[in-house]
Amino acid sequence: MKILHYEVSTKTNYLSPPYGGLGGKNMDKKLIIAIDGYSSCGKSTFARLIAKELNYIFIDSGAMYRTVTLFCMRRKYINITGLNTAGIISELKDIHIDFVFNPDRNEYETFLNSENVEKEIRSMEVTSFVSRISQMPEVRARMVELQRQIGGSKGIVMDGRDIGTVVFPDADIKIFMTASIDIRAKRRHTELKSRGVNIDFEEIKRTIIARDIADENRDISPLRRADDAIILDNSRMTVDEQMVWIKEIIDKKRNGS
Ligand code: DC
Repeated sequence: MKILHYEVSTKTNYLSPPYGGLGGKNMDKKLIIAIDGYSSCGKSTFARLIAKELNYIFIDSGAMYRTVTLFCMRRKYINITGLNTAGIISELKDIHIDFVFNPDRNEYETFLNSENVEKEIRSMEVTSFVSRISQMPEVRARMVELQRQIGGSKGIVMDGRDIGTVVFPDADIKIFMTASIDIRAKRRHTELKSRGVNIDFEEIKRTIIARDIADENRDISPLRRADDAIILDNSRMTVDEQMVWIKEIIDKKRNGS
């Protein structure tokens, strides 16, 4: 299998990612597009599709926080009772995260120190610990540094919680996504079921609410809408409708309005 990949660990450049490079229809104006919002709103699906449409790079910044969390779990730096912050800080620089293109799936997959962890970082266990890891200032500082390195050359769509507020405050387009709790829980439930994970709907809802509270109330880079972000409530929108909506915004931006 031929793998094209770019690293976010030590290097500032990436190697010909299939979504990047020569650009889409209007090659002249490359944009930074920041997609922030609540968990389970479909941010990554949306961001990934926009990147494909434009031939841009897509970065799922949540995957980076999840990967650090997995690393900490394996090292036993985090469990239900506690957090070994000194241990985490001492090893932060040794955590290498790669996004590697898998042509069979036509998607990027996340690698931790050369191991494919794409599936593992989506587990309920990682999900339950990630808020605590992503609250650590040292972890955030390192992730933001890496995210800025990747976005330095424009032509990128990045989704997360603080992309439009902290990582790229000058992003060309900022979207803030939201949807009703019930709809988000339903989508997550369907997604988990399709992956063979059987979990109670109410439990999913509780986890989503808890993550919203953690995301919105942490001291550093809490989830909030940037003043210049456009709100997208996709509770009653299909993915196709969202794409029509964003294309209009992109076209306007490219035409200078
Ligand atoms: O998007 P996600 O659910 O995969 O993100 C996982 C966690 O990472 C989420 O609980 C919040 C955190 N996160 C963050 O703090 N900042 C980001 N830019 C992206 C995610």
